Amino acid sequence: MEVIARAGKILEEPVDILVLSLFEKTEDLTEPILSLDRSFQGAIRQVLQESNFKGKVLETHLAYLSRSGLQPRPYPVKAILFVGLGKKEKFSLEVVRRVAGKAAKEVSRKGLSSLATLLHGAETLQESPERIAQAVVEGTLLGLYKFDRYKSRKEEEPAKEISRMVLVYPDAQKLPEVEKGARVGQILSGAVNFARDLINAPANILTPSELADQTRQMAEACHLQCQILTEKELVDLKMGALLAVAQGSDQPPRFIILEHRPKGGAKTEERRPGSEDREPSSSTPHPPPSPGTVVLIGKGITFDSGGISLKPSKGMYQMKTDMSGAAAVIGALQAVALLDLPLQVVGLIGAAENLPSGKATKPGDVVTSLSGMTIEILDTDAEGRLVLADALAYARRYRPTAVIDLATLTGACAVTLARIAAGMLGNNSSLMEKIRRAGEITGERVWELPLWEEYRELAKSKIADLKNITEDVGAGTIMGAAFLSYFAEDYPWVHLDIANVARNFEEKPYLPEGGTGFGVRLLVEFLRSWNNT
Ligand code: BES
Ligand code: MN
Ligand code: ZN
Repeated sequence: MEVIARAGKILEEPVDILVLSLFEKTEDLTEPILSLDRSFQGAIRQVLQESNFKGKVLETHLAYLSRSGLQPRPYPVKAILFVGLGKKEKFSLEVVRRVAGKAAKEVSRKGLSSLATLLHGAETLQESPERIAQAVVEGTLLGLYKFDRYKSRKEEEPAKEISRMVLVYPDAQKLPEVEKGARVGQILSGAVNFARDLINAPANILTPSELADQTRQMAEACHLQCQILTEKELVDLKMGALLAVAQGSDQPPRFIILEHRPKGGAKTEERRPGSEDREPSSSTPHPPPSPGTVVLIGKGITFDSGGISLKPSKGMYQMKTDMSGAAAVIGALQAVALLDLPLQVVGLIGAAENLPSGKATKPGDVVTSLSGMTIEILDTDAEGRLVLADALAYARRYRPTAVIDLATLTGACAVTLARIAAGMLGNNSSLMEKIRRAGEITGERVWELPLWEEYRELAKSKIADLKNITEDVGAGTIMGAAFLSYFAEDYPWVHLDIANVARNFEEKPYLPEGGTGFGVRLLVEFLRSWNNT
């Protein structure tokens, strides 16, 4: 879809439909709708009265000009879609995204192919035109997402693609801001929808090697550095925890490394293999970038059957989404590259398939992780933390200023927080506060859970350094993070358990059923504000 920002009058745009938003309980019309009403000689007011439109949040009313006494000529517009913004006190960017998503879907369902829209709620001055433009574009492009790749016949409804959207803002001076917001919104929506495609892809197609291939293709298109480690290289590196998860499957694991270096790059010193100071144990063929790096880690289990600790078959198919953390990191790096953010960002993905077989890891097995710490694997279904353990250890070589991991780690996260916020745990309060704030802005909210020493003690094994589950203590989400914390002791670290938010069970205004892409917008917002706070 082409997205254009324009200053001036919405009525003059050569589009099929106008999307106009109104707050609830505004007894009389206010600008910018008021002047539109004048252009229509009061007919807008009349339409709203006759249709009993209240402006409740997400309420809509569609009026075709030819049928509503809205004198169409000399304007090209065929229809107006009125959308409710709800109460002014409850206005937020989240309202804008939801309203824009709902409106876009209605326009698409009517088979109309171009629209002009206001920057919803901009007149309140509660949010900048740039932020609102970004939210309108995000709501629209995220709301129109469909996963119909495997339908040989597309749905019969008209569903003509919307080819053009014009964002109209009265103040010409602010036009560059609106344009910037629209551009950022397009980049982010593209990255989120790419992540959704990866999440929704079935596990027979999206194997660890396919995930690596698709990531490499994206990286080439976006000028990201990409390195993919094969099974043999993982054996040489001694990634014993990741390998233990992968060994039951015929699909070989992959370790994916993505790197963004700012192009303006005065800060980035080039380091070539051989010239860098490697850690003694490392045999990486890769030069670590200079300090100041933020590392993002994603759990990339392309299918989680539980392994020998097999899951019940009901609903097991959902475990094709167990690489949602990886998808979020891959999507975030795409956006970081396209926005050319002025900091170094590394993405690390441990990708494997967790299956039972004659070669699979058995409950009670002990393995040695990349960190050198030994792990007693008491439950092969607690595989995510094993994969993350090796990725967290690998992250040390970047001497990162922050490491954030995202993982569909525990079903318990939905028990604690329902589907409202991701679980957040870590070893650094100021980093967590930055992420919390990014969550409020993006609507991808996180909530901190405690990680006291007492929980960490519970992760110690009698016969090895750590055990991957602790029976009969509860607090599943916390215990997952407690285990991970031993591998993240050398840097500021935050763990986001997204098991409860990565997948949506019913369609919402800008969230489809299936993979949500949760984390992409959160991470990018966090990184964008990294230098400003
Ligand atoms: N991938 C699952 C967690 C999960 C469950 C994600 C439901 C999304 C929806 C993870 O690997 C897992 O199996 N976790 C176990 C941990 C337990 C064995 C300590 C769980 O949550 O039951
Ligand atoms: Mn599992
Ligand atoms: Zn899992």
